[in-house]
Amino acid sequence: MISLNLACKTMQTLVQEDERVSLQARLDSGKTQVERNRLGQFSTPYALAKEIVEFGVALLKGDRPLRFLDPAFGTGSFFSALLRTVPSDMVEAAKGFEIDAHYGEPARQLWRDRLLDLQLADFTESDAPDKESDRFNLLICNPPYVRHHHIGERDKIRLQDTSEMTCGVRIAGLAGFYCYFLCLSHPWMQRGAIAGWLIPSEFMDVNYGEAVKRYLLNKVTLLRIHRFDPVDMQFDDALVSSTVVWLRNDLPPDRHEVMFTFGGKLSQPKVLRTVPVRELRKEPKWTRFPVLEAREGIVRYRLSDLFAIKRGIATGDNKFFILSKDEINAHGLPLEFFRPILPSPRFVPDDEVKSDKDGIPILDRQVFLLDCRLPEEAVRERLPRLWAYFQGGKGTVSKGYLCQSRKVWYFQEERAPAPILCTYLGRSDSRNGRPFRFILNRSRAIAANVYLLLYPKPMLARAMSEDRSLLERIWKALNSLPTTSLLGEGRVYGGGLHKLEPRELGNVDATPIVGILPDLRSHSKPIQSSLFD
Ligand SMILES: C[S@@+](CC[C@H](N)C(=O)[O-])C[C@H]1O[C@@H](n2cnc3c(N)ncnc32)[C@H](O)[C@@H]1O
Repeated sequence: MISLNLACKTMQTLVQEDERVSLQARLDSGKTQVERNRLGQFSTPYALAKEIVEFGVALLKGDRPLRFLDPAFGTGSFFSALLRTVPSDMVEAAKGFEIDAHYGEPARQLWRDRLLDLQLADFTESDAPDKESDRFNLLICNPPYVRHHHIGERDKIRLQDTSEMTCGVRIAGLAGFYCYFLCLSHPWMQRGAIAGWLIPSEFMDVNYGEAVKRYLLNKVTLLRIHRFDPVDMQFDDALVSSTVVWLRNDLPPDRHEVMFTFGGKLSQPKVLRTVPVRELRKEPKWTRFPVLEAREGIVRYRLSDLFAIKRGIATGDNKFFILSKDEINAHGLPLEFFRPILPSPRFVPDDEVKSDKDGIPILDRQVFLLDCRLPEEAVRERLPRLWAYFQGGKGTVSKGYLCQSRKVWYFQEERAPAPILCTYLGRSDSRNGRPFRFILNRSRAIAANVYLLLYPKPMLARAMSEDRSLLERIWKALNSLPTTSLLGEGRVYGGGLHKLEPRELGNVDATPIVGILPDLRSHSKPIQSSLFD
């Protein structure tokens, strides 16, 4: 009789999961992508939800009845996985929050005969139970991934204040919504509770993640961080690289070590390594782990010691301001107001850009930046064709965010051509296995913001003018830097897309480059700073 009951329950759970999946699809299709982005409405694929729930239940070691909480419930993929992971008599309570009735109401209907208290409310505004016994010991959540600029100013301050009160850290204004969710859930957990958070990896590397990392290292015991391989995308519709953070609600023991895993499944990762908390406190980029070791000692030279690194110019509207020779001629525009600019990296097949005698890059695609610094009256009086061209952008291009903020809407930023450029967006599985390329620019072309520009600092510039071969040797050395030392400073997005910001490129260990500058090798850091700056 008991086993028949069990079989019926299992059957019912299977049917309910099928119903949930079709419900989810129907509800998703009733919303636009923009609406779903606003509330971070991207459901967890069931296979992943099941893997996460099984892992969480195993961490809990089954010594107490289960009290389950999902603060961002959706249609309940984790709850459904829970029902298929443990016998229902092990679950003492299950609670969820869902802000959006579009998902919440049908989910309530779907699970109406289950032990579930689903609140249609904003989790961040809800009060945690006062009594320990009313709190939860298994919290599993895929919180809404909403970027900071979609959080209203007043809400942000409320979230910052309440997170600070509940977990003792003040979250930076640039943090995504998920960071607040994580902190605000703290008082909902029983002592010893296990929590599993499916969140973007970003917090591990960027400044805004610092408070979250402090919380994870000081207030709770961080057990494990598993980063999915961004190449095996976990979500079809949200381009984020995902991580599952596991913690236990207890203070960390002395000399605690955290398990970092990468790739494969939670239960069978491809790479794993434990990292002592004391190393995590020093290391700003946690996505180094587990693939890379902690940094050994202090890096003596960074690329920013040798180069001033800037982003290329933002034109305000590339279609309007960047033209080919044919387009310039067709509009009858005066050539003197154009300067060569490199086309996008995909039109620069080689890592060296050669130049003709006029400083124009020898490339199949040659383009020029309209760079006129004459005031409007002067153009109107003296240059009728250029004036007519500008009129074509008046009210449209001129009203763009960047153009509007300029003294005269078509004035471009001043940038000298850089001898070396870096393509700072790329995939590690690209044809040559290098996500970033360093390009030697022998032309007069400047570059737009699809490149980072490396300008030698004065001492290096002097050394280069004394030894003409140095530029080329440095460029080769840059292209031979270990890929890991570049990736270790940057960030990675879903689908394996890597990105380096100017400051991150500046942090890359430049010791191999300094190695080819014989006179500078022996200088210690303080002398070196004064030499280069
Ligand atoms: C990333 S989805 C996860 C849904 C579900 N748990 C899953 O894993 O498939 C996040 C859910 O949180 C809901 N949500 C967004 N803001 C919320 C808030 N402040 N309080 C409660 N739920 C919220 C969204 O409507 C969405 O359904």
